[in-house]
Amino acid sequence: MDVETLNRTIAEIEAKTAAAAAAAGSVDVLRAVESGVLGKKGTLGSLLANIREYPAEQRGQVGQIVNAAKGRVQELINARKAELEAAAGAADAAAGDTFDPTVPGRRGKLGSVHPVTAVQWEVERIFQRLGFTVEAGPEMETEYYNFEALNIPADHPARDVQDTFWLASGMCLRTQTSPVQVRSMEKFGPPLRIIAPGRCFRNETVDASHATTFHQVEGLLIDRDISLAHLIALAQTLLSEVMHREVKVRTRPGYFPFVEPGIEIDMNCQICGGQGCPTCKHSGWLEILPAGMVHPNVLRAGGIDADEWSGFAFGLGLTRLAMMKYGIKDIRVLNSGDIRPIVGAARLSGVVLGGRE
Ligand code: DAH
Repeated sequence: MDVETLNRTIAEIEAKTAAAAAAAGSVDVLRAVESGVLGKKGTLGSLLANIREYPAEQRGQVGQIVNAAKGRVQELINARKAELEAAAGAADAAAGDTFDPTVPGRRGKLGSVHPVTAVQWEVERIFQRLGFTVEAGPEMETEYYNFEALNIPADHPARDVQDTFWLASGMCLRTQTSPVQVRSMEKFGPPLRIIAPGRCFRNETVDASHATTFHQVEGLLIDRDISLAHLIALAQTLLSEVMHREVKVRTRPGYFPFVEPGIEIDMNCQICGGQGCPTCKHSGWLEILPAGMVHPNVLRAGGIDADEWSGFAFGLGLTRLAMMKYGIKDIRVLNSGDIRPIVGAARLSGVVLGGRE
């Protein structure tokens, strides 16, 4: 190709490129145009590949012509690229979709533990300090451990108040954490100090204070010469630590087939301070900790000599305690996905729950 033809060819390429760049609607399309012209095999880019065809004295001139053309085309492409980028930015901004990579990212909310879990952990820590180990039992339980071993034979009226969900296999969903008592006696033998937090189930009509699924913490201590005084002292320590203030306790007789004697340990109402309010049914006291001295039949079921060993047991209503501690009035919100009533109630009682930033 002589120099004249070269100049004509270059002029055509430049004209075509200008048209193609103007027509390109996006940076990607423009890039394809760019490499089609300036790339090694592009229309301009390949012109110098056969520079050896020119006589030696012309090669410098040809090189200059081609390179100057390349420079002009590159400028044209760059200008069009800037135009396209500005247009894209304006469109994003108009759609409210600006992205500034220098702004620090927004952290996702982490969430926090469920109020019942929070209280459970607290209770576990308190008991571990007192030398108790934390045990777990199965939620799907045999009739033997849930009832019989706890001195509740098949014809006992106590079965009626603990109606539950029966499985086709003959097992049931445990109505209480008490079955962990005999399981632990069998596992460890005396002396023994355990607590067993966990889920329990009952066939209940659901209302603000009854749910079919709720949490308890069972406690069991077996040793020599254990009396009710030990139990009451422990209850007072536990409840004061959980409530983060000194609470008063009182005891009343209570009946549970697996303890003898059985007692109800009440604490002074944390909502009204003992003056009387709807939560404590105007008595000033809250029923919180049913307990008693382990019945000899239960010790025997666990393979323990009832003449040598004695002990106490209690069943703390963990769900109830969490509601009291965080001021949650309706048990149903605890098993729902809606955390607003929980967070709101907790905040009112001075506790911060809910999502953390
Ligand atoms: N398991 C009983 C219930 O759910 C609560 C209970 C009462 C547990 C007395 C105990 C106890 O260990 O000694 O109603």
